[in-house]
Amino acid sequence: MKKIAVFASGNGSNAQAIAEYFSKENEARVIMILSNRKDAFVIERAADLSIPTIIFNRSEFYDTDKITNYLIGQNIDLVVLAGFLWLLPSSLVKAFPNRIVNIHPALLPKFGGKGMYGHFVHEAVVASGDTESGITIHFVNECYDEGQIIFQARCTVDPLDTADSLAAKIHELEYAHFPRVIDEVLKTF
Ligand code: GAR
Repeated sequence: MKKIAVFASGNGSNAQAIAEYFSKENEARVIMILSNRKDAFVIERAADLSIPTIIFNRSEFYDTDKITNYLIGQNIDLVVLAGFLWLLPSSLVKAFPNRIVNIHPALLPKFGGKGMYGHFVHEAVVASGDTESGITIHFVNECYDEGQIIFQARCTVDPLDTADSLAAKIHELEYAHFPRVIDEVLKTF
């Protein structure tokens, strides 16, 4: 069975969708959820799903190799960033080449980079007047939102859309595609 570690910083609805998808599969499982915020709602979701959580602070993440070494020690096959807002330290990226995937709530390379996450992305898309947005699933390197793109899906941005209504459309795309694309990536290992 392949082992997935999911990083999430906030609500964790994607983390839950991924964990539930793989709970019905024998090929792979989410075996831990890691977060930089002990009060993130994803921690409650993990408890409900009976998935162990690891909480870490900035200095543990950036000044030590504690998290990287823990993932290596647990024989993690794939690291998934699902609404995780910190840049990964290079030791972690180097330890899992082409084995870290992220989801971004827009069509990269547009609306990516530092500070572009969650609601800020949807606000920028609506303000831009673009008539479409979507999701991008990509491998992770040491720069925000710049790794090789694996998959994109699109939705319309209608004249009456707000950041909130666009966020709802994007979340539907995320739940429909992210677990399935992770499954496909795992099958290539
Ligand atoms: C998701 O829409 C994800 O694409 C986005 O944060 C949201 C997390 O929602 N990620 C980024 O913006 C990363 N740059 P969730 O916590 O409910 O899964």
